[in-house]
Amino acid sequence: MTPTVRVLADADAAARAVAARLEELAGSALSARGEFSVAVSGGRTPEPMFRALAGREGGASVWHGWQVFWCDERLVPVADDRSNAGLARRLWLDPCGFPRSNMHEVPTDPPVEEAARRYDATLRTFFHPGERDGPDVVVLGIGPDGHTASLFPGSPALEVTGRWAVAVPTPGQPPPVPRVTMTLEALARARNALFLVTGADKRPALAQILSPASSRSKDAPLPAARVASAGAVEWFLDRAAAPA
Ligand code: 6PG
Repeated sequence: MTPTVRVLADADAAARAVAARLEELAGSALSARGEFSVAVSGGRTPEPMFRALAGREGGASVWHGWQVFWCDERLVPVADDRSNAGLARRLWLDPCGFPRSNMHEVPTDPPVEEAARRYDATLRTFFHPGERDGPDVVVLGIGPDGHTASLFPGSPALEVTGRWAVAVPTPGQPPPVPRVTMTLEALARARNALFLVTGADKRPALAQILSPASSRSKDAPLPAARVASAGAVEWFLDRAAAPA
């Protein structure tokens, strides 16, 4: 399915558009199935999106039925500024009174291979075939190198099949801490993939990812170009990141 690309005036507008799209997709999922599952990413880009979600009217009840997962995680304590779960909890989930039982975090205490095994089990158990094929939505970013989640160019993690999550002991970008990431196969199980990409530093990679020649195929060089989705891949960009 051809991805859709929306270019917004600035990073805040792009983040607000993703938050609005999430709420729209959640409304449909909750009406149809009584629950909504979303896997989010970390880094700096999603900060305004988390703030926009936290600004939603209606109190804790509006998050009833939401289940939150992470596309990837750095193996640091949740209180560490580099923690993806810590970022989402600080800016959105905790201020909104989100039930802890509906946050499915990557365990960051064990060694990275054990952390990946446990998170793989968490995802495999929740997205049990026949009941739930995959997350309703994955929200992804990209690095200047075209990575997404913690799937870095040339990483063996890109080729892993039969797993929902794998260990990335030595990431290709800072922070230089071990990671756990969902696999491309797992991300492809999502009904919708939303990319939020802002900032001029992302433009070169984005030009390559979104160019027709890149053929977002399984062997495209940049990991973000290899993300498929059971449904639609939607790109939300600010003008700074949007290719000319
Ligand atoms: C992570 C993220 C990662 C992020 C990109 C962009 O754990 O680092 O999940 O995939 O989306 O690295 O990061 P910025 O938003 O900080 O540019």
